Amino acid sequence: MKNIKFYIETIGCQMNVNDSDKMAEILSKRGCFRTEDMSQADIVIVNTCSVRFSAEHKAYSLLGRLKEQKDVNPNLIIGVAGCMAQYAAKEIKTRCKFVDFVLGARDIDLFCETISKYVPDNKEINQNRNENSEVFRYITIMRGCSNFCSYCIVPYVRGPEVSIDYNEILKEVKKACDDGIKEIILLGQNVNSYNYNGVNFTQLLQKISEIDKVKRIRFMTNHPKDLSDELIDEIATNTKICRHIHLPLQSGSNNILKAMNRKYTYEQYKTLYEKIKNKIPDINITSDIIIGFPGETDKDFQDTFNASRQLQFGGLFIFKYSPRPKTLAAKLKNTVSLETIKERHSLLLEDSNIISKKINEKYIDKTIEVLVERVNNNVAEARNSQNIKVFFDTKENLKGKTVNVKITKVLPNSMSGILQ
Ligand code: 5AD
Ligand code: SF4
Repeated sequence: MKNIKFYIETIGCQMNVNDSDKMAEILSKRGCFRTEDMSQADIVIVNTCSVRFSAEHKAYSLLGRLKEQKDVNPNLIIGVAGCMAQYAAKEIKTRCKFVDFVLGARDIDLFCETISKYVPDNKEINQNRNENSEVFRYITIMRGCSNFCSYCIVPYVRGPEVSIDYNEILKEVKKACDDGIKEIILLGQNVNSYNYNGVNFTQLLQKISEIDKVKRIRFMTNHPKDLSDELIDEIATNTKICRHIHLPLQSGSNNILKAMNRKYTYEQYKTLYEKIKNKIPDINITSDIIIGFPGETDKDFQDTFNASRQLQFGGLFIFKYSPRPKTLAAKLKNTVSLETIKERHSLLLEDSNIISKKINEKYIDKTIEVLVERVNNNVAEARNSQNIKVFFDTKENLKGKTVNVKITKVLPNSMSGILQ
């Protein structure tokens, strides 16, 4: 029997990367081989995202290309998974009749059953599993979201927030350690509100760090309304937790924050931000901003721009507002023109890049510890505790190793240096 090759295209967030890994593991266990070349695949899975229209557009154009591939190879199996598959299954099935199955993000547990209809169980033939080659692994600790930020589709697609049993999480963490994983990345839409049978997020972090083999822990994402003092103290004192907090601000204008249903003011955010910086001086705080939320005036944008200057984020992800079905914001009039959104976006991007680069400049000539994630063409790609990407030349395969690098050059989102 011929080797079955599968290709997975992951669009969107780390949660999807995690789900793609799970699907890949199931396919590998059934004897299939992963390929990075879509045109060679017998099975293609498109793991979709619906957070912005552009992500959906990307999925449909990929499906367009897959139709052509299926015209040439009618045996090709095409599956659509993830968020778009969850809420727009009907539309996908109507628009793309050549798709074999559609499996929503909330039904990922049914993947094994679904795929068994298409792939015989052939586990003997796959000797090639490379489970031990990952450096970090995502572990989902919560599903869904109950915050209903007015622009966001996630609560409608992924359902209400549910915390996963910490016993299950600890089991997964131990398995990851046994597989040689060096870094654990805990995932949830708002990890700060984790609670399973009275065990909160700080206590979960404590339980995980008690596992001897765990070396590095990261987590995302945080919500400013729920990040506790207790958690800040835990990060400050627990050396296994990386010095990085992603803390989405979304807007620096109180009017817009209110309309977004974020449940904090800029002043409250700033107080929290300063508390974190004071208690954990070497922390890197990154953030998300949405530009062009309905009704965003020049003054609102100026508030956001000033906030970015005042807070000095280590990294800023700036998104153009995209109206999403079902959300409250999608019903709002007073939309901002595309030209204005574009203009504000580039103004903020340019300024925030200068800030991030300046922040990184403090590393110049310093020797820092980094964990190597991959080596390609004699260039290693690593990450420091602050989650900044670090590149350096090496002839050795240092993947998974912690090494020291002297930083010689910085950019807004990465640095490079010399292996010590
Ligand atoms: N339009 C633009 N950006 C969005 N985000 C979430 N929903 C939207 C939307 N409708 C951004 C937020 C969030 C990040 C993951 O995506 O900034 O923090
Ligand atoms: Fe969306 Fe807000 Fe939930 Fe984040 S916290 S997933 S932005 S609703």
